[in-house]
Amino acid sequence: MRTTSTSDASGSTSDSIGSIPTALPGGTWTLGDREVTRFGYGAMQLAGPWVMGPPADHDGALAVLRAVVRAGITHIDTSDAYGPRVTNDLIREALHPYPRSLFIATKVGANRDARGGWPTARRPEDLRRQVQDNLQALGVDVLDLVNMRMGDANGPQDGSIAESFETLAQLQQDGLIRHLGVSNVTAEQVAEARGIAPIVCVQNMYNLAVRHDDDLIDDLARDGIAYVPFFPLGGFTPLQSEALSAVAQRLSATPMAVALSWLLQRSANVLLIPGTKSVTHLRENISGAATVLSAQDVAELDTIGR
Ligand SMILES: NC(=O)c1ccc[n+]([C@@H]2O[C@H](COP(=O)([O-])OP(=O)(O)OC[C@H]3O[C@@H](n4cnc5c(N)ncnc54)[C@H](OP(=O)(O)O)[C@@H]3O)[C@@H](O)[C@H]2O)c1
Repeated sequence: MRTTSTSDASGSTSDSIGSIPTALPGGTWTLGDREVTRFGYGAMQLAGPWVMGPPADHDGALAVLRAVVRAGITHIDTSDAYGPRVTNDLIREALHPYPRSLFIATKVGANRDARGGWPTARRPEDLRRQVQDNLQALGVDVLDLVNMRMGDANGPQDGSIAESFETLAQLQQDGLIRHLGVSNVTAEQVAEARGIAPIVCVQNMYNLAVRHDDDLIDDLARDGIAYVPFFPLGGFTPLQSEALSAVAQRLSATPMAVALSWLLQRSANVLLIPGTKSVTHLRENISGAATVLSAQDVAELDTIGR
């Protein structure tokens, strides 16, 4: 069943915004009961500087989101904490009524403060409110996927995920969430969450240079669970490395293209959500991710993060 929205219930789709499914690099992956393109899109960077406030170019942000769908991408990652509420509002304005094929993943577990900080908000009442905020802002009756985000800006932290994840599992039972995931978590927290309710993905920081989760990715692949790396291009600090530049130069590709294609080739359960405010960069990333890396290329790139 598709996430319900007024339009979906009436059977209309996004044809009005010209969705033309095309073959994207990496093909598809099944998240729960839904097939998504492995090449997705992360909406966080559409908000203002440091993910606070509105974008400098509102129409440009809408154009990026429409270009995402037009390119055939069916997986968008967001959170009501981005802005806050800015990226969800943009997604709704640009894309609602949503294409039936579009899968929108969101996350809960943090608020924003006046200084742009990300204070944790994981008590059951916080999570219930955040789920309601996401439903309202995105304009849907059911959220496709909610990630329980743990840890802080420094990464995952040890500790039980049980109380938070049980709350999301209850909201799933209540019919407000289709699928569950976890984010910014340790392998132990992944195991703890899976003991409470099934998860379809783990969203952690991972890229060519940050490879703490190599074993976790392989374990999840064996169990058919997706791994969604955030900061695939390095996030606020673009990936830079001599080895990356050398491989990119040899292939006549950009370092961004090589970083994305390396992730797609890393494992079939890796789903990409690179962010950009630019339609040009979006197109570059889509075509660049199709770059084919040889075993020699991969061996050289593996020296960066290992
Ligand atoms: N779960 C979590 O805790 C968590 C944390 C952070 C992020 N996320 C999710 O992960 C997604 C991806 O992370 P991210 O967007 O922060 O980082 P990212 O995808 O690693 O990098 C985005 C940055 O790369 C630049 N960029 C993209 N394509 C480019 C190109 N072709 N050429 C030059 N520069 C390019 C973008 O600038 P331009 O805008 O100029 O293209 C932007 O500054 C987010 O959107 C968000 O949905 C989740």
